[in-house]
Amino acid sequence: MGNAHLLVVDDEPNILTTLSTALRLEGYSVDVAGGVRVAEEKLQKRAYDLLLLDIALPDGDGIDMLTRLRAARNEIPCIVMSGHGTIDTAVKATRLGALDFLEKPLSTDRLLLVLDNTLRLVRAEAEARELKAQAGWDGEILGDSPAMLQLRERIARAAKAKDANVLVTGERGTGKELVARAIHLQSPRAKGPLEKLNCAAVPGELIESELFGHEAGAFTGATKSRRGKFERANRGTLFLDEVGDMPMPMQAKLLRVLQEREIERVGGGDVIKIDVRVVAATNRDLVAATSTGAFRPDLYDRLHVLPIEIPTLRARREDIPNLTRHFLELTSRANDRRGMKMTDDALDVLSGYSFPGNVRELKNLIERLVILSPDETIDAEQVRSFLPQAGVPAAGGLFRATVPFRVLVEEAERTILQEALKHYGNQMAATARGLDLERSHLYKKFRALGLREKPKDGEDEPLESS
Ligand SMILES: Nc1ncnc2c1ncn2[C@@H]1O[C@H](COP(=O)(O)OP(=O)(O)OP(=O)(O)O)[C@@H](O)[C@H]1O
Ligand SMILES: [Mg+2]
Repeated sequence: MGNAHLLVVDDEPNILTTLSTALRLEGYSVDVAGGVRVAEEKLQKRAYDLLLLDIALPDGDGIDMLTRLRAARNEIPCIVMSGHGTIDTAVKATRLGALDFLEKPLSTDRLLLVLDNTLRLVRAEAEARELKAQAGWDGEILGDSPAMLQLRERIARAAKAKDANVLVTGERGTGKELVARAIHLQSPRAKGPLEKLNCAAVPGELIESELFGHEAGAFTGATKSRRGKFERANRGTLFLDEVGDMPMPMQAKLLRVLQEREIERVGGGDVIKIDVRVVAATNRDLVAATSTGAFRPDLYDRLHVLPIEIPTLRARREDIPNLTRHFLELTSRANDRRGMKMTDDALDVLSGYSFPGNVRELKNLIERLVILSPDETIDAEQVRSFLPQAGVPAAGGLFRATVPFRVLVEEAERTILQEALKHYGNQMAATARGLDLERSHLYKKFRALGLREKPKDGEDEPLESS
């Protein structure tokens, strides 16, 4: 089980050195952190396969850190290690989903064994989930809201343009990977390969050889030559996920490849022609990143020849009931609990929730409800109890823990517009005047926020910047 990328958190420099040496010898990639702050920073930056976590840390408590991770919906597999292995901490850690508990002093053999078993288990579970998902579902993009109809049309059009690069943007869980796959499958390249590279999951120094391949001896550890993703994706599509996380030096190299349509392997001289369409995805604001210097504007231009923006789930709430019914059907079948239903009230509760994690969050929520609900019919009360604590507003306030700022602001805007419209007797013109907004801007806001109040006065929507 080499290859896995681990984060080891311990305050003892000696332990960090010994552990990381032993683990690297086994073929693991290892990052270390001496405390909670550094560990949290690293976890923000990269998706690790596993976390090895000490409990007593100089700047905090490992259990508290794990609690925060779980509250933020980070389900990274975790093994806890501690010198003061009280039953109490072990129980707490297990409740937070720690997969094993190792007592210090650590035995390297035992650690390696536990690691290997844990990673096997995690991988097997992921594969099982994947298979289950595939069995019941063919990757269809669901949703009948106007925004989704428009999205499907854009996908079809982008697919037809065989060589134009596409940039897919959208918040986490909106279905960027799904869209990338749909573009490939509907394109003339469908018979060719679809290759994927997640720029956030691969360490910066490895991205180059992942993309372009390398020749034997190109760097330590490169014993054999290897084709990179671009070569493998030849005559097909390369999906560059989280492209906003690509390190600067790589951005320059990628730009050159997109311009010249040829690559060179790392440590190799031959120039190789490639015929690849790049579909890139990001949940970052790349335009903002170009103005702060974090992303090359010329690369941005090359990538977003055809931009596709996926709307958030809360901007198309009318899709929530159908998506819910679909996921309900799917997961109840997969879990041998056929016939699970949801009351209309329960659907209303779901439709009112903000879903910062978008469709993925909805899907996971339904899965948990199906597995854990004692009855065949899920009611509003149950749904409410499964929504994160954060779904409940603090008394009178607008702030809610763990909800992104963007979502909070959108919700505040939505409330303001609804109240204003009511105040001005549902007259769009009066509302715009009262709020000192351009009428076209008000309409645009309404659409962006997924509000569908029909103005009573039957006013036509004005043209842009009237
Ligand atoms: N319109 C949709 N119809 C059906 N399923 C969807 C839809 N959108 C997303 N999903 C499902 O939600 C989950 C998340 O989708 P996906 O991985 O494509 O999102 P993403 O935008 O790439 O997220 P992230 O930014 O976190 O990588 C997947 O299980 C996907 O099948
Ligand atoms: Mg994704």
